[in-house]
Amino acid sequence: MASGLNNQFCAIIDFGSQYSQLIARRVRENRVYCEILPCTTTASQLRDLGAQGVILSGGPCGVYDDDAPTFDADILDMDVPVLGICYGMQVACQAAGGQVTASKEREYGDTTIFLNETDNPIFHGCDDRMQVWMSHGDRVNEISSDIVPIAHTENTPLAAVYDAAHRFWGLQFHPEVTHTQDEGKILNNFLYRICRFSGDWEIQDYVSRAVAEIREKVGTDRVVCALSGGVDSSVVAMLIHKAIGDQLTCFFIDNGLLREGEAEQVCEVFGNQFGLDFRFIDATDRFLERLAGVTDPEAKRKAIGHQFIDEFREAASQFKDARFLAQGTLYPDVIESVSPFEGPSATIKSHHNVGGLPEDIDFELIEPLRFLFKDEARVIGKEVGLPDEIVQRQPFPGPGLGIRIVGEVTRDRLQILRAADAIVQEELLGWSRFRDIWQGFAVLLPVRSVGVQGDQRTYDCTAALRIVESTDGMTANWMLPPQEILARISNRICNEVQGINRVVLDISSKPPSTIEWE
Ligand code: XMP
Repeated sequence: MASGLNNQFCAIIDFGSQYSQLIARRVRENRVYCEILPCTTTASQLRDLGAQGVILSGGPCGVYDDDAPTFDADILDMDVPVLGICYGMQVACQAAGGQVTASKEREYGDTTIFLNETDNPIFHGCDDRMQVWMSHGDRVNEISSDIVPIAHTENTPLAAVYDAAHRFWGLQFHPEVTHTQDEGKILNNFLYRICRFSGDWEIQDYVSRAVAEIREKVGTDRVVCALSGGVDSSVVAMLIHKAIGDQLTCFFIDNGLLREGEAEQVCEVFGNQFGLDFRFIDATDRFLERLAGVTDPEAKRKAIGHQFIDEFREAASQFKDARFLAQGTLYPDVIESVSPFEGPSATIKSHHNVGGLPEDIDFELIEPLRFLFKDEARVIGKEVGLPDEIVQRQPFPGPGLGIRIVGEVTRDRLQILRAADAIVQEELLGWSRFRDIWQGFAVLLPVRSVGVQGDQRTYDCTAALRIVESTDGMTANWMLPPQEILARISNRICNEVQGINRVVLDISSKPPSTIEWE
C-alpha cells in the first residue's frame, strides 16, 4: 500500500463506488497525493501510512444489506479529518449510533441543497443553495447527539452533517462529479481548509523517487521491456533507462499491423536518439501467415494474440539473465481489476495491460506507473524527454490495423489502409480541435463500389472515417471536423490511394457502436 512516493497522503476508503476513481482524480487535481484503499483498511494501517485526511467513498450497497461492506470505526477516532460521501456518510453515521433507512421520496440526479449554516469550513465560498448530484436510495434519518445537520434538501433533512468531536463531515450527495455545481470548492475546502494539505504534490517529484526505487529494487539485475511504442510502455522504458541505463533491454515486436512510419519512429527514438539497448524483431511475415484466410473478428484477435505470445516467449527466452519484466500498468488498470474487499493493492493479473502475455512468465514485474493516471504518465513522459509525437499519441489497439481491416488482412490491404490512414492523420493535425480527438483513423471496408477516375471506370474499396472524442474509451461521441478538412481527406484518399474510390463518415457513438470496427 501507498508506494505512491509521498509524505503528504490522503486515503480514499473504497466501498465499491463507480465514482471512487473520480474522487482520486479530483484529489490529485488539487495536488494532493492519494490512493484508493480497500474498506478493510484499519485505523492503525492508516496511521502507519501517515494519512492526513480520509475520504469514505460511496458504494452500491445499502448499509443493511447482507453483504454490505463495513469499515474500522476507529478511523473516526484517529484525530484525522474524515469526509463520508453518500454510502460513506451512511456507514459512518450508523457506526456513531445513527439510523439509515430507505427513503420514501427517492432523490436521484440533480437536487437543490440549502445550507443551514454558511460558516462551516466545508462550504466556504459556496452559495447557500446549490445544485448537487444524488445517487442513492438510502439516507441517514437519525443521528447521534454529537452530529449536527449542516445542509438539507426539500425531502432530505440530513443532506450534509458535521461532527466536531470526531472531525467528521458527511455528504449525502457527490461533490466529485461535475453535476454538483460547487466549482470543486467542497473537496478543495476539505483538503486545504480542513486537512491542511499544502497541495505541493508535483508529478515531477515522482520521477526522482521512482528512479531511486527502481535502482534499489533491481540492484545489478537485468530488466526486459516489451516496447509497443504506445505512451505507457514508452514512458516506462525511459523511466527505467534513467534509473539503470544498459541494465534495461527493450524489444519491439513489429507485427506488421502498425501505422505508417510507426515502427521506424520507435526505432529512431529509442534506438538512435536515446540509445537504449533496443532489439527490433520483424515478425510481419509470421503474423500475416497466421492471419491468412481469417475473417471473423474474434478469430483475428485470437490469431494476433497467440502469435504475440509466441513471439514474446521466443524473445524473452533470449534474455536468460533477466529477472524483471517492465510493464506500463496504470492506476485505472489496478483499480478496475480488484474488488473493494481486496483493495487495489492486491495482486493484479500478470498479463493485464500487455495485450495478453502468458500467465506463466517467470519474471518479477516492475510497474513504475501503477499509481498514476494516463495524463500523469504523459507529464512524466515529457519530463523524461520523450517527444510529443509519442507522449500525445492517440490510443492504438494491440491488434493494430488488423481490426481496422474488415475481412481478411493481407499485405496489399494493409498497404492501402496505411496510406489512407496516414492522410487522415496528416489532415486532422490541421484541425483546431485536434487535441480533443480521442482517436481519429481510417477503416478499410470490403465493400466495393463503382467510381470514375479520369475516363476510367473503377470498382474499388471504401474507407470509413472514425473520429471520436472520449475520456476513457468506455463511452465515445463521434466528432465532425469542418467540411474543408473532410473534403481534403476524401479528395486525397480517392486520388492518392490506389484501391479506394469512396470515403464515408462513421457517425455512430459508443454505445451502441464500439470505437474499433472489429
Ligand atoms: P472499443 O472498440 O471496444 O475500444 O470501443 C475501446 C478502446 O480500446 C481500444 N482497444 C484495444 N486496446 N487492445 C488494446 O490495447 C485491444 O485488443 C483493443 N481493442 C480495442 C480501442 O482502440 C479504444 O481506444
